[in-house]
Amino acid sequence: MKMIEVRNLKKDYRIAKKRTGMMGSLKHLVMPRYETLEAVKGISFQIHEGESVAFLGLNGAGKSTTIKMLTGIMKPSEGTVRIMGKDPFLNRIENARRIGVVFGQKSQLWWDIPVIESFRLLKNIYSIPEEQYTRNMERFGEILGLHDFLSQPARKLSLGQRVRADLAASLLHEPPILFLDEPTIGVDVTAKQKIYEFLRETNSKKKTTILLTSHDMKDLESICQRLLILEKGKILFDDTIDKLLKEYGGEMTLEEIIIRLFEHEADHITG
Ligand SMILES: Nc1ncnc2c1ncn2[C@@H]1O[C@H](COP(=O)(O)OP(=O)(O)O)[C@@H](O)[C@H]1O
Ligand SMILES: [Mg+2]
Repeated sequence: MKMIEVRNLKKDYRIAKKRTGMMGSLKHLVMPRYETLEAVKGISFQIHEGESVAFLGLNGAGKSTTIKMLTGIMKPSEGTVRIMGKDPFLNRIENARRIGVVFGQKSQLWWDIPVIESFRLLKNIYSIPEEQYTRNMERFGEILGLHDFLSQPARKLSLGQRVRADLAASLLHEPPILFLDEPTIGVDVTAKQKIYEFLRETNSKKKTTILLTSHDMKDLESICQRLLILEKGKILFDDTIDKLLKEYGGEMTLEEIIIRLFEHEADHITG
């Protein structure tokens, strides 16, 4: 079954063209000028049930923009997104039941209330049955080690704790699809391992479809079978990790191959 279907997806941002100096700032107030930044330039791909896909690309490649369109937060400039057959932007409420979302940079939890209260609120919002809630809280608590900080408000958690709580929150309603945007950025190694183990298990046991952006290439191999590489808003590679290793591999590790793939681009930026 096709879980995610993306066709010729584009996103343009209109950004203010700044002029220099005081006069420039004044002119901008009176007569602002804009230019168009093509963040995502017409990409197409499909993801099937149970797949777990690593979404890679340098900073600014368009990964977060794509995830925002897939999750229905942002409207595409052109093209179509279908999440289990439906447009996520036009069916936001229905879509919310089908997806879980974790943004490493931004918590979805209520900041000032104890984490456990956020979970109880989500239980009500999604009408999660008591039995399912208890079962999930037990499982999440164990693998992610939530028990130590459930009574703390989200704002008091370390980054690693916060991401683990966010991850549990995103999966309480057992969505068939999980989107993660840089979930382990700034997270320490021990917390990272818990997060990855949890994702592996969720993908293999619950057949949850996963799309994950990360800079951590080392661990991606153990979670994802497939790589989707974005370069300047276009797809550079879309196939299995095995295929990439076979085609370019030789003695190189996955990380080395990907660094090579990006090298000309990196040279271009720094040089
Ligand atoms: N809200 C926004 N307004 C204008 N430009 C943006 C906005 N968000 C992202 N961009 C630009 O779009 C491009 C893609 O950004 P993003 O999707 O965040 O890339 P990535 O997540 O791969 O680092 C970058 O050039 C970025 O500066
Ligand atoms: Mg990003």
